[in-house]
Amino acid sequence: MKLIVCKDYDEMSAKAFEVMKEVVTSKPDVVLGLATGSSPVGLYQCMVKDHEDNGTSYKNVRTYNLDEYVGIDRNDPQSYYTFMKENLFDHVDIDPANTHVPYGNCKEDCEAYEKELDKVSIDLQLLGIGRNGHIGFNEPGTPFEELTHIVDLTPSTIEANARFFDNDMNKVPKQAISMGIGTIMKSKKILMVVSGTDKAEAVKGMVEGPVTTDMPASVLQNHPDVTVVVDEAAASLLSK
Ligand code: F6R
Repeated sequence: MKLIVCKDYDEMSAKAFEVMKEVVTSKPDVVLGLATGSSPVGLYQCMVKDHEDNGTSYKNVRTYNLDEYVGIDRNDPQSYYTFMKENLFDHVDIDPANTHVPYGNCKEDCEAYEKELDKVSIDLQLLGIGRNGHIGFNEPGTPFEELTHIVDLTPSTIEANARFFDNDMNKVPKQAISMGIGTIMKSKKILMVVSGTDKAEAVKGMVEGPVTTDMPASVLQNHPDVTVVVDEAAASLLSK
């Protein structure tokens, strides 16, 4: 696991963009696994700026998102589908037909997404990390071999995400459809972005702790090509 410690969020986003750009320009039909949330927004802004300034093209890029809330309309302002359009897809030359965000609420929907994923091989999977160490919406206790599945969100995740729902935990969906850890681990390369002191405990567990389902991100210690870009606040509990 390669760890890059940056001064702050902006430097973290710029560093992560360097990794992303190398992959995106390595082959025109690259396959990206994408994430939502606060962590990758700065990186997406760098990608949009680079597209505008340098013409880096996403014409043949295919994308597969990690997750989506259950029970929320695709075009709801809070859906991850809308998030991706607003933060990336609408601002680069990607073909909407090449973008995939999971959708649904049952086993069949999960199997259908996994079937789509089976047709490709993700070159780079972008991840954030939850305060409890979740990746995608794989909450503590999720078996490492799990594929795309329906998840009951933990109170900690519902509380963390209430900021997007008028700070009202009651408005936060209670379930999500998420790639599993087994799905995530199949990708060739993993890039994680993390910032803030509230993530420091999770970063410590992921990097220095035992590999355990209690800390889902610790599984990344078993992946051969992981780059974690953190800011100083998120790295503050690391012992070295
Ligand atoms: C989002 C996702 C989640 C987030 C995590 C961190 O697609 O899968 O695992 O990456 O909850 O969220 P932020 O970046 O908002 O702190």
